[in-house]
Amino acid sequence: MLEIKDLWVYYGHALALENVNITVADKGLTAVIGPNGAGKTTLLKAISRLINPQKGSISFNGQSLLKYPPHKLAQMGIAHCPEGRKPFPEMTVLENLLVGAYVLPRNQIQGRLEMVFDLFPILKERRDQISITLSGGEQQMLAIGRAWMISPSLLLIDEPSLGLSPLIVDEVERIIGGIKESGVSVLMVEGNVDLIRDLPDIVYVLDHGSLIYSGTVSQILGDTNLSKTYFGM
Ligand SMILES: Nc1ncnc2c1ncn2[C@@H]1O[C@H](COP(=O)(O)OP(=O)(O)OP(=O)(O)O)[C@@H](O)[C@H]1O
Ligand SMILES: [Mg+2]
Repeated sequence: MLEIKDLWVYYGHALALENVNITVADKGLTAVIGPNGAGKTTLLKAISRLINPQKGSISFNGQSLLKYPPHKLAQMGIAHCPEGRKPFPEMTVLENLLVGAYVLPRNQIQGRLEMVFDLFPILKERRDQISITLSGGEQQMLAIGRAWMISPSLLLIDEPSLGLSPLIVDEVERIIGGIKESGVSVLMVEGNVDLIRDLPDIVYVLDHGSLIYSGTVSQILGDTNLSKTYFGM
């Protein structure tokens, strides 16, 4: 579904990604892990066209994404849930979700909203609350819910567990598991091993802009060096 080949990204003269090759299978969940500054957010930004790679190709269902501006990607079925949440602070939960739905035909919006409320009961409960007053966990639900509103076939999600308590991380895991079950492909960047243990089919390890390993979670756990460095166990 998503195929990244020989991707290179520089910020000025600083190299951020070097010869990155990643495949996200149809209906699969692929995770990218790696330390701070490894280039994980850069990778997602390059896919969603927020930055221009200097070299390489990114194709989605056989079509090159590099020729499209970022707003076209939502129409193509690619949703990006960025690092650090950021709903529109002065809008209500419902208004934020409706902004997320801008690419849907009008007659599909209400049905989609019901689907989002089914997966995120907390958003239904808080639908009229001003978003800035939501807790951190609720804001993360809203950020994922807003991306989910466009009914994507590929969801890019950047560190969904950032700054959340273990109980809320469990809830985020349940939600991302539900999204995967519904047949959507997911590319998730994550540092929290609790979210990485059960969800991904394939894990890529990114370090200093280069992929140093790819395999299943059990393969990584079976490698003493990798599991100690990246899973702390
Ligand atoms: N706009 C920018 N200008 C210059 N350098 C940047 C820019 N954005 C990121 N970088 C640098 O690129 C490298 C990769 O950053 P990136 O944000 O992709 O890392 P990350 O793996 O997402 O880290 P974290 O886990 O902390 O979120 C870092 O060295 C960072 O300082
Ligand atoms: Mg990041």
